[in-house]
Amino acid sequence: MTRRYYVTTPIYYVNGAPHIGHAYTSVAADVIARFKRLAGFDVFFLTGTDEHGQKVEQAAQAAGMTPIAFADRVAADFRDMYDKMAISYDDFIRTTEPRHAAGAQALWKKLEENGHIYLGAYEGWYATRDECFYGEEELIDGPDGKKVAPTGAAVEWVKEPSYFFNLSKFGDRLLELYETRPGFIEPASRRNEVASFVKQGLRDLSVSRTSFNWGIPVPGDPKHVMYVWVDALANYLSAVGYPDQTAPRWDFWPANLHLVGKDILRFHAIYWPALLMGAGLPLPERVFSHGWWTIEGQKMSKSLGNVVDPRDLVAEFGLDPIRFFLMREMPFGGDSDLSRRAIISRMNVELANDLGNLAQRTLSQIARNCDGRLPPQGTHTAEDTKLLAAASLLPQIMHEQIDRQALTDALEEVWKVIRACNAYIDHQAPWKLKKTDAARMGDVLRVLADALRIIATVLQPYMPGSMDRMLTQLCVPDGARDFASLDTPLPAGCALPAPQGIFPRHVEPEAS
Ligand code: MSP
Repeated sequence: MTRRYYVTTPIYYVNGAPHIGHAYTSVAADVIARFKRLAGFDVFFLTGTDEHGQKVEQAAQAAGMTPIAFADRVAADFRDMYDKMAISYDDFIRTTEPRHAAGAQALWKKLEENGHIYLGAYEGWYATRDECFYGEEELIDGPDGKKVAPTGAAVEWVKEPSYFFNLSKFGDRLLELYETRPGFIEPASRRNEVASFVKQGLRDLSVSRTSFNWGIPVPGDPKHVMYVWVDALANYLSAVGYPDQTAPRWDFWPANLHLVGKDILRFHAIYWPALLMGAGLPLPERVFSHGWWTIEGQKMSKSLGNVVDPRDLVAEFGLDPIRFFLMREMPFGGDSDLSRRAIISRMNVELANDLGNLAQRTLSQIARNCDGRLPPQGTHTAEDTKLLAAASLLPQIMHEQIDRQALTDALEEVWKVIRACNAYIDHQAPWKLKKTDAARMGDVLRVLADALRIIATVLQPYMPGSMDRMLTQLCVPDGARDFASLDTPLPAGCALPAPQGIFPRHVEPEAS
């Protein structure tokens, strides 16, 4: 039976253009999805756009467009960013699609049927930027003395009729969940924050609004639209066919992994499991929250004018170097800074020097000294065996890391092997063997080619285009680039295409 894996990104608000923060979550999810596919899993990788709510409505108004025309435009821009970043999503859901409205309304009805929704009136603070209700005690003093949300977002006092979800009744079950399934929220430091928030006691959640209508109508009471977070979270269900439990994709539920940024963990680790419990549905396996990028040491913001469009970075540095940088520079789960200097250093040291040179040296020596043909596997010395054994363990070690979302550690694991290959080539000095022991030279180059094949195979999820090219240069057939294919040795004598540099060094243009 094929094993299934369902991974999601948040669905992004269409109030503005895609930026590096969106690209980051999506590249991480893409690495995981690609890795699981190579390991033989049947993967469903979901992403999409969150198109309702006041924030989007206001952005559309400011642009002088109807909300749907505006959402169409921005959603298309997100897809364009995805194409440019090689995000291999299986489905892109938009919350304005009928299939989504059907799923979200079915979830609502189920909650109502199970007695978890009641009509009341909301009176309290709301931050449109965060699309979030805040308690008085959570507010902090803003720069001009006014109260603001803990995120710094402006708040307004809202008073309107509203339906409520009886979240307060779920506190104990949530705490039990965090305790019995510690992997449900990762990293652990954030799990503790969530648990202490829940321990303080939860208030019932206002789940509908009446002061605007850009949203999914509440079933049976269309004066209300669903609170945008309930609408949005339901995407993870509607995309797999909910409420139709005979839908072909329903088998993917529950999701294995919701990847989210730390700012939206509360919604995924508290509201979402409570809503699912209320509806009697199985809970996702894991919610992993990653950190935030600053840009050249500063918070990224429209007012500072430093919002980075990932497509600009790709145009300047190339796609794979940027995907690599994003996954390498920030320990997955922590925070980090994005700077030109750091991008160039990663490109030149780790890609051009460590990996690029290794491939170039190996392949050009095969081209020059072995007639461009892959040498046969020779008798292995202890050193050969050690190197190949370390390389062969990579798929397994990395798989365990990928399942914990240790995406940066997994890269470090590959680089250990790359560094070992570089030490090996220096020590074996195959260029000297040419005159003294041509057979051994062939053996050494073959060991390196075999190690490189494994390295390129396991790095495909991070840098799909460049690793594709590297595998082609190593004579690995197109359909034989998954982990299972590594068990079959490459045929000796295979004619290798002329080697071509894969990672050029980045040289800054001279300042004039
Ligand atoms: N629409 C909601 C999510 C609903 S999911 C059911 C939303 N959208 S968002 O457009 O604001 O995108 C949020 C995602 O982008 C989060 O995962 C957030 O952490 C990420 N990032 C936004 N800025 C970021 C950085 N500067 N750095 C890293 N990620 C950041 O919230």
